[in-house]
Amino acid sequence: MTDKKGRILTGHRVTGPRHIGHLVGTLENWRQLQDIYDCYFLIADLHVLTTDYEHPERIQNNILEVLADWIASGIDPQKSVIVQQSRVPAHAQLSLLFSMLVTVARLNRVPTYKEQTQQLNLTPSLGLLTYPVLQAADILIYKADVVPVGEDQLPHIELTREIARRFNQLYGETFPEPEGLLSTTPRLPGTDNRTMHSSYGNTILLKDSPEETTRKVMNMYTDPTRIHATDPGHVEGNPVFAYHDIFNPDKAQVEEFKERYRQGRIGDVEVKRRLAEALNEYLAPIRQKRAELIAHPDDLRDILHEGTERARPLAEETLAEVMTRMGLLASEKLTSQR
Ligand code: TRP
Repeated sequence: MTDKKGRILTGHRVTGPRHIGHLVGTLENWRQLQDIYDCYFLIADLHVLTTDYEHPERIQNNILEVLADWIASGIDPQKSVIVQQSRVPAHAQLSLLFSMLVTVARLNRVPTYKEQTQQLNLTPSLGLLTYPVLQAADILIYKADVVPVGEDQLPHIELTREIARRFNQLYGETFPEPEGLLSTTPRLPGTDNRTMHSSYGNTILLKDSPEETTRKVMNMYTDPTRIHATDPGHVEGNPVFAYHDIFNPDKAQVEEFKERYRQGRIGDVEVKRRLAEALNEYLAPIRQKRAELIAHPDDLRDILHEGTERARPLAEETLAEVMTRMGLLASEKLTSQR
């Protein structure tokens, strides 16, 4: 574990099964990072409750779905540590201690918080307001150097850096200032060309059957200005071609399709049929692995339990260090990791 470039922590809120946007934007990136960094992947179940606390019956199942999707996509519990957030109470304890170092005004300005409260038109809970403080604790409790995330999460990384800096100033050098790491793959649009999001009903799930996938592809949004197959079509901004670019390994065919589409010499149906085929081939090995995994939920629970136990000592050590530095523990207990 020592020849690696540094430590990564990242994770997902376990809101439901993962979709192909997660796969190409996130999971394929994580898979590769495993060989370069010591990786901690967080099953963020506490964060789920910031919005979905009215559906406790969903959480256990969603944890297994996400875990199966992760592992089927190449997250390797031998190489990396998969942690269940709520099972390591040090995350929540560190979040409480960090909350002393952050003003309410600062949290009110976090863009994700502003957007969510406006969009969902909800009365924000204290938990939603402090969401990014818990996230900072998730990251800093393992003293992670690098946090691979989507662009929307960068404000949370910025807050994490502020907390690390403030803590270090007040109590002595303890935390690194972690860097956000963006994936280089462009974001995959949803089947309706909006942002792919579970709540929009525009996703293709890793667990979808080939038939379901084909149905979704055949119903995809294409060029709305094109009425007949002989009309010249638009390739740019057309999600069908965005998908071809990623999932169709026959690049010459993709170029040929684009050319003919622009000239009005190929119908949407043919382009979509071929996409459905390519996508199903791409997903086949992942789906097979996933089906095997989800058929043995006890094994999945064991994997998560083992990962969580591997993470616990480091988390507890950091918490003890923080408590010592903040004056809550007598100082002979201080044993710094770094
Ligand atoms: N907020 C992240 C998301 O919505 C999930 C998350 C929780 C996370 N804790 C984290 C991501 C720590 C990176 C690091 O996707």
